[in-house]
Amino acid sequence: MKNAVSNTMALWFFLVFSLHCAVTRCHALSDNILVVGATGTTGLRAIQGLLDVGYKPHQLFILTRNASRTHMKQLKKLGFCLIQADLQRPSSLVAMHQDVTSIVYNSAAAAKDHGVKRIQQKHDVESILMHHSKYPRHVTCLRANLFMEELWKRYTRPQILKGEYPLPVNRWRKLYLTSVRDMGRLAGTVVARESAFKQDARSKSTRIVNVAGDLLSGPQIARAFGKAQGFPCRHVNNRELTKFAKENFPELYEQIHFIQTSPEKTNIRTLKKEFPGLITSFKEFLDETKWGNVDLEFDDLSKPESLDVPDNM
Ligand SMILES: *[C@@H]1O[C@H](CO)[C@@H](O)[C@H](O)[C@H]1NC(C)=O
Repeated sequence: MKNAVSNTMALWFFLVFSLHCAVTRCHALSDNILVVGATGTTGLRAIQGLLDVGYKPHQLFILTRNASRTHMKQLKKLGFCLIQADLQRPSSLVAMHQDVTSIVYNSAAAAKDHGVKRIQQKHDVESILMHHSKYPRHVTCLRANLFMEELWKRYTRPQILKGEYPLPVNRWRKLYLTSVRDMGRLAGTVVARESAFKQDARSKSTRIVNVAGDLLSGPQIARAFGKAQGFPCRHVNNRELTKFAKENFPELYEQIHFIQTSPEKTNIRTLKKEFPGLITSFKEFLDETKWGNVDLEFDDLSKPESLDVPDNM
């Protein structure tokens, strides 16, 4: 029950540090990037986004708790650099601190009085990164909305493939949807721009950007699923879930209430202008991820071996 709605929240931890690279001559993009919190199926989509905008595997340093995992070994084989470290004991990160020139942090789009603990944690980190002088000059917080990738999960996709999309909101309420791959693309673009412009060394620049590729209601999302899978899907506002959560799971209810009422807006048009060709609509996402292939499961959404890695020089 609890899982049925956590899919609606974009609460995934993802940090991109740009590490200044001593050898800059041979690459179009001169910086190395340290990627934190992106080793799972969803995280790999962000890594694909970094590849999309021109980063090469050897420029991407991926932080992992366990470099012996099969996934990690495969990434290493593809040329990615692995850094084994535990965020609970961040001494290895502290050592790299000097070289970090910018940070991109994955946060969540929400107005000030959102009332969701998990979003608050993200905004607290954001605030520390943005206001503490100890942290690098360039800090960009990309605030995601609902991740499209979450809809692939085991507690959502099978039901949608049976023709029902349960979402505890009324039929008029529209939700912003964000592709994780776009988060990687934007993170990479931001880092590359900052390093290209070499802004004034003394001043700190910080920015918050809301990210989404579409704004759709439950019935519109269901219709898109129907088109992609070739048979109809309808939106169901599961009111019992709202009621059940209200009585039994306060934290879950916080989240449901949030998606039902949040007044936060994301300007998709402006975003597309600033990042041309890098923002994915929901339909494009469904096509790109082959939603209509009923044999595919969440784990198939992204795997090291199916990453689209550009040819190395
Ligand atoms: C790391 O992953 C390997 C392979 O899956 C596993 O055998 C090992 O127990 C893991 N180590 C830790 C500390 O989790």
